[in-house]
Amino acid sequence: MITLRDYQISDMDRLVKLANTRNVSRYMIYTFPYPYTEADAKFWITQGVHMNNSVMKVIEYEDEFVGSVGFVPQTGWREHIAEIGFWLGEDYWKKGIATAALTEMTCIAFEEHSFRKLYASVLAPNVGSIRVLEKCGYEQEAHLKTEVIRDGAYYDVLGYSKFRA
Ligand SMILES: CC(C)(COP(=O)(O)OP(=O)(O)OC[C@H]1O[C@@H](n2cnc3c(N)ncnc32)[C@H](O)[C@@H]1OP(=O)(O)O)[C@@H](O)C(=O)NCCC(=O)NCCS
Repeated sequence: MITLRDYQISDMDRLVKLANTRNVSRYMIYTFPYPYTEADAKFWITQGVHMNNSVMKVIEYEDEFVGSVGFVPQTGWREHIAEIGFWLGEDYWKKGIATAALTEMTCIAFEEHSFRKLYASVLAPNVGSIRVLEKCGYEQEAHLKTEVIRDGAYYDVLGYSKFRA
């Protein structure tokens, strides 16, 4: 249904088109800017995807770039853990794409990179993301109250995790 591939510099325009909407960035927890400019896309493709030994992939659906999935290895006493994340352009929501992409990336992280634990931090109202994580076998392990302020609103953050079998 989907394939995962590395980012290419030629993905820049498409990345801006997919990422530059309020609905995509609304519940993204870290530095996913809005508006999402060409400079943001260039930084992401040339530097961001490689930062902190990250593994970041383009999700292709019907041979088109539709979103992204990836993980960031943690360090020191947490080196057996990676933080995983995903997003899709709005036109591609609710087709099972994120579930397929997260399933595949989870497998890559456990089988090819030998992590023991994967986790995702989700803003509490992001029910779509929670559903995707649960469908992929992630379980809620933490509930951090009023943990994040975003655009003037406070949010609880839910920690979801999955352990290697
Ligand atoms: C969250 C997101 C990745 C979901 O992707 P998706 O491809 O639409 O998810 P799927 O199609 O695989 O859906 C999986 C399940 O979640 C449900 N779901 C998806 N979005 C939903 C929503 N907004 N509200 C309620 N349920 C939702 C689907 O109906 C499906 O459930 P079912 O199989 O029981 O019918 C997508 O909405 C997105 O990119 N959002 C913006 C970025 C983001 O928030 N990323 C996550 C950060 S933690």
